[in-house]
Amino acid sequence: MTTLPQTMFATVLLHGGYSGEATGPYIESAGDWLAEAELPVPEPGPGQVLVKLRAASVNPSDIHFIKGEYGQPRVKGAPAGFEGCGDVVATGQGAEALKGQRVAFITAGSGAWAEYVLAPAMMCIPLRPEISDEDGAAQIVNPLTAMAMVDIARNAGDAFVVSAATSQLGKLMCGLGRDLGLKPIALVRRGETVEMLKDHGAAEVLVTTDPIIADKFAKISQSLKPRVFLDAVADQLSEQVFCAMPNQARWICYGKLSAELPKLTQMGQLIFMGKQIEGFWLTNWVTSTPPQDQARVVAEVQARFADGRWKTDVSEHLALRDLVPNLAEALKKSDGKVIITP
Ligand SMILES: NC(=O)c1ccc[n+]([C@@H]2O[C@H](COP(=O)([O-])OP(=O)(O)OC[C@H]3O[C@@H](n4cnc5c(N)ncnc54)[C@H](OP(=O)(O)O)[C@@H]3O)[C@@H](O)[C@H]2O)c1
Repeated sequence: MTTLPQTMFATVLLHGGYSGEATGPYIESAGDWLAEAELPVPEPGPGQVLVKLRAASVNPSDIHFIKGEYGQPRVKGAPAGFEGCGDVVATGQGAEALKGQRVAFITAGSGAWAEYVLAPAMMCIPLRPEISDEDGAAQIVNPLTAMAMVDIARNAGDAFVVSAATSQLGKLMCGLGRDLGLKPIALVRRGETVEMLKDHGAAEVLVTTDPIIADKFAKISQSLKPRVFLDAVADQLSEQVFCAMPNQARWICYGKLSAELPKLTQMGQLIFMGKQIEGFWLTNWVTSTPPQDQARVVAEVQARFADGRWKTDVSEHLALRDLVPNLAEALKKSDGKVIITP
């Protein structure tokens, strides 16, 4: 039996609660929000497991959270980080079946940017051996969101719009859309990413800095008739895109990469064209989707990573002990995830 250490290295939250601001998932210096600490190794309670970390990912939600602008309050001094993968080394009551398994996990209370992590057994997915630790560290948040949102899109027509399409989630959704015979219309900021997005499955790619993007989008919208806009940017251009979409269109905001607050300019569209503005949060999907449907989605996600249809692009690896001094710089690269290893 493995003997666990008494203490562990962890990267902890410097502040508690909410900040009351929403400046976006960007930081000048991680030291403004995080600190290094030596903490007692936590003990799993009923329904929880203790995971020895192999790899953790850094998602925009982690950065919103450490800054106090996410959908749940911070606990000062608790380890940060929502998602990762590792080996289950101890289990609480009712979670014994996971003992010894390599799992992807979402954390609860004691976060992923630490040598040992607490996770609810319900939020652990035993990993197939073909799945690398890097893919395992980004196996839940983005892939489940991609599956859930493309499912919404496929029920509404053949085409759908994706903003921030160079994001990991954007690429997953374009690939999945193409595989389902749909036509993803991708919005990107950088012209040099157009071909890459087409290779990933986008039927059309528009560059948001193009001065005539609104006209170009209006023409594509008239011909492909997208009725779902999966939007992680939510700025004024998003509102223009929504206004150019056909009747019954749904603007589904699931991220806030831009700090700009858009103004609604055509309220009549909501009344006369049956258009809707709504949000999507994976947390709500998990609590509202029957377990057998979630199991089907999880199996499909693992199959896609196992056979190479999906993969996690990695921009940088950071050791846990190097995280605080180097995270802000590592996040400036825009071509993949920062992966943390112990
Ligand atoms: N609601 C949910 O349940 C849920 C679940 C998962 C993810 N999300 C959200 O999904 C989004 C993508 O997540 P991810 O992990 O895939 O992100 P990611 O891989 O870290 O990529 C984000 C990319 O978005 C682009 N971007 C950044 N700021 C932008 C801006 N102001 N305007 C346009 N593009 C911008 C950048 O690419 P370029 O430099 O190439 O433009 C950046 O690399 C995030 O907003 C995240 O919070 C939401």
